[in-house]
Amino acid sequence: MKAAVYYETGPPDVFRYEEVPDPTPGATEILVDVEAISIEGGDTLNRWQGQLTRVPHVVGYQCAGAVLAVGPEVTSFAPGDRVVTVGLDGSHAERRVVDQSLAWLVPDALTTVDAACVPVAFGTADDCLFEFGRLAAGETALVHAGAGGVGIAAIQMAKRAGARVLATASSDERLERLHPLGLDERINYAQHDFVAEVRRITGGNGADVVVDSVGGSTLQGSIDALAYRGRCVTGGDAGRAAAENLDVSKMRPANQTLSGYFLGAELLLRPSRVHPMIGRLLSEVARGELEVVVDRTYPLAAAAEAHAYVESRKAVGRVVLLPKAT
Ligand SMILES: NC(=O)c1ccc[n+]([C@@H]2O[C@H](COP(=O)([O-])OP(=O)(O)OC[C@H]3O[C@@H](n4cnc5c(N)ncnc54)[C@H](OP(=O)(O)O)[C@@H]3O)[C@@H](O)[C@H]2O)c1
Repeated sequence: MKAAVYYETGPPDVFRYEEVPDPTPGATEILVDVEAISIEGGDTLNRWQGQLTRVPHVVGYQCAGAVLAVGPEVTSFAPGDRVVTVGLDGSHAERRVVDQSLAWLVPDALTTVDAACVPVAFGTADDCLFEFGRLAAGETALVHAGAGGVGIAAIQMAKRAGARVLATASSDERLERLHPLGLDERINYAQHDFVAEVRRITGGNGADVVVDSVGGSTLQGSIDALAYRGRCVTGGDAGRAAAENLDVSKMRPANQTLSGYFLGAELLLRPSRVHPMIGRLLSEVARGELEVVVDRTYPLAAAAEAHAYVESRKAVGRVVLLPKAT
């Protein structure tokens, strides 16, 4: 099969488009003919400085396509099923193998491209807001990186839960695109101090829940922007800097919470909760209750160009790779 591979981590031009051996499914695994690959924020971070599981390495968490073959102990899927899959690597290829526990049937009404964008972003947003953030109707949610994949999912979910939704992004143009999805108040953090903006917008109260997928110095601001009893969920390092010397001293008197979040751990350790939750989200997207925003698509052979576009921070929503496009 063809795959977008790299031999060492680094900028987007480390990608090579090469022939690699087809993966073969183990006893409980499925082999998928990949039709759409969502470039996740974590894919660009892994390409930049993640671990190589083998050389050449095939990066990528998430893709969708049709089941080609199943292992002898697979009970949930059959050849021909349309599925979306997640895994620690291997999505940037024409074929992909995952355990059946990391795949979902794609509802008939959902395109394969849209399905490829759902589990990680929407599952993460749902868990950060509700399972760990305990967001309730009437509260205020602050969503960082609002124009990213997780951010766009979180804005929609927070809005439909009855929250007032604030989001940050690096430009007014990006924020403008988010209002139809449920954004109430936009914060251009390149022009304004976002903590002061949250205080101003909330009349001094702060945000009840913060979904922070940016990390670094932003995380301190997220803590500082919390309301009394506020919950900050740290889910990512999109800013590509470690959060150092965090000052949590004001959290105790304000009965605030800081939670870490990793979807992969929940999929591994709490599958009976998370797998159906992601299945529900796929159905909600299929029914039009939630929206996938795809900024643009590229052939898989152009993975370097596609990753560079994601990193240009011009994309609003997902950039999708298509192995069958030329
Ligand atoms: N914990 C988990 O289980 C989990 C699950 C999914 C994702 N994540 C993490 O969450 C983060 C966001 O994921 P995503 O899929 O939403 O990413 P994405 O779609 O690629 O969006 C990332 C956003 O981060 C913002 N950003 C801020 N500082 C940046 C920088 N220095 N370089 C590039 N972008 C920067 C950009 O928006 P602006 O330019 O508007 O700021 C960009 O739109 C990633 O770190 C990812 O690894 C974690």
